[in-house]
Amino acid sequence: MVKTIDEILEQSHFSREDVIQLLQTDIVGRNKIYTRAAQIKTQYVGNKVFYRGLVEFSNKCVKDCYYCGIRAGNSNTIRYDISDEAILYAVKYAYDNKYASVVFQSGEREDKAFIKRITNLLHKSKEITNNEIGITISLGEQTKEVYKEWFDAGAHRYLLRIESSNKELFEKIHPNNDRHSFERRMQALRDLQEIGYQTGTGVMIGLPFQTIEHLADDLLFFRDFSIDMVGMGPYVEHSETPLYQYKDLLLPQVERFNLALKMIAILRIMMKDINIAAATALQAIDKAGREKALKVGANIIMPNITPTENRSNYLLYENKPCIDESADDCSSCLEARISIAGDTVAYNEWGDSWHYKKRVNL
Ligand code: 5AD
Ligand code: FES
Repeated sequence: MVKTIDEILEQSHFSREDVIQLLQTDIVGRNKIYTRAAQIKTQYVGNKVFYRGLVEFSNKCVKDCYYCGIRAGNSNTIRYDISDEAILYAVKYAYDNKYASVVFQSGEREDKAFIKRITNLLHKSKEITNNEIGITISLGEQTKEVYKEWFDAGAHRYLLRIESSNKELFEKIHPNNDRHSFERRMQALRDLQEIGYQTGTGVMIGLPFQTIEHLADDLLFFRDFSIDMVGMGPYVEHSETPLYQYKDLLLPQVERFNLALKMIAILRIMMKDINIAAATALQAIDKAGREKALKVGANIIMPNITPTENRSNYLLYENKPCIDESADDCSSCLEARISIAGDTVAYNEWGDSWHYKKRVNL
């Protein structure tokens, strides 16, 4: 017999069929999911939002993902690499504004100079903030040794999206070569977890060729992997990328957005104590996108604190929000919007994933 949404929501564990049914539900069911997710958020992680000041310090990338605007093959992008001084200035900005954590993100590189540079930046970031700033890095696939070197230098969280947990779909959205291997991506996630990072991953929602079953499996993957943090948002097509040729196969943007919200809400119900980011891509489709995500389970926001002159070149997708504004403009309006969503910004708190703390018995 088919279960009702209420019956599914009362269960403490969801099967694959349950998750598929939740993802497929109509607007009435959707509101039930949202209400339950909001309750669980309040109960387990509280109505607090933690900031991670995002520094997108370079768009130079050696990879060629078919969906991404800064892929090596896109010759229509002005490549930039912010100086160490400017990066550290952004770190100081975050610290002085009580953000408590920063995220360093860039295109992917594996050369020695890059690796050393990051190690040095991690040490310096700690030095100039009385050893207090929390540091997340999102610098792609690296060897386990490199991950360890950066962990020892002060990074304690790592974001590496799996993009899709389905190997076939992963292979459709990446070139077919060693540099874009599904197995390597999986291994990288395992390495990060073994080293002791709070490990974050995520997927894009509404990709061409993606099905509801794929998305259900993504959620089950996060649970099976015991992931500590998730950031996921809608896929937003970019005209200078190979996947753009499939734009006619896509759901309308609003539907991709709604599906992303539903994914966040279901994930909050399934993984009550993890950190879930309200991804920037949500805001590319709906101006209040991130705040809507907070209402249905997300608890992390990554305000962009990249020095402004470079921000317009870090276009992974089009319509990226806030690219004309300085960090100040962003943070002043953000706090007001967060309080309208019913949350309070937790300043000066790292806001580590409770899931991680339990996982490693802290
Ligand atoms: N649409 C949405 N998200 C994208 N990303 C890259 N390109 C796009 C796009 N076109 C996401 C990927 C990557 C993260 C840094 O940005 O999931 O992991
Ligand atoms: Fe740069 Fe995918 S295009 S990592």
